[in-house]
Amino acid sequence: MHELQNLMHQLITSGYETTQSAIAHGMWLLVRQPELQDMLRNEPEKMKKFIEESQRWESPVQGLARTTTREIELNGTTIPANSPVIVRYGAANRDAEMFECPHKFDIDRKNAGAHMAFGSGAHFCVGAMLARQEMASSFTALLNRMDDIKLAQPLADLVHEPSMFFLPIKHMHLAFNKR
Ligand code: HEM
Repeated sequence: MHELQNLMHQLITSGYETTQSAIAHGMWLLVRQPELQDMLRNEPEKMKKFIEESQRWESPVQGLARTTTREIELNGTTIPANSPVIVRYGAANRDAEMFECPHKFDIDRKNAGAHMAFGSGAHFCVGAMLARQEMASSFTALLNRMDDIKLAQPLADLVHEPSMFFLPIKHMHLAFNKR
């Protein structure tokens, strides 16, 4: 029972907070760059690119705690084995050596899919494909039913709740016309 509860806890926490944040950030992106709304309606094949680039640009999991299994040198700093570290996926996704103009959202970015939003290696997110499908279904359904999506009221100065690991939006009320 304990193991089952642990598994359910992990699936619910890692599968809910992340995906709802990804969908909220996608909606916020559609508000800030409204030309994307019609683009995605008229060219649904761009949905995949939109999802990958939005994961790169505003990664719902900004970082996670890990322990080094061996000594490693990183940019001139030696980290001993068994050290607690926080891996910053969000920072890696804005690495200028990897992504040209990393702070720009570019739906046509060629290597957007090389992002680290779902991690990497043995612990790569087990729900990545499910999350991508949830995002595609949600954005498609929302864009089919909502026109002229915009903010109903200005966002707070501080858009996100403080969080070491995640990127939770405080509030975001949207206004739209019914399609
Ligand atoms: C946009 C949505 C999501 C994001 C951004 C995300 C991100 C991540 C990241 C960064 C990791 C750590 C990977 C690593 O250490 O290399 C992870 C692991 C994990 N994720 Fe997700 N995730 C998402 C959705 C989901 C969903 C929908 C589920 C399940 C239904 C899920 C279940 C898990 C589990 C169980 C792990 C641990 C895997 C392991 O340690 O082997 N995630 N996720």
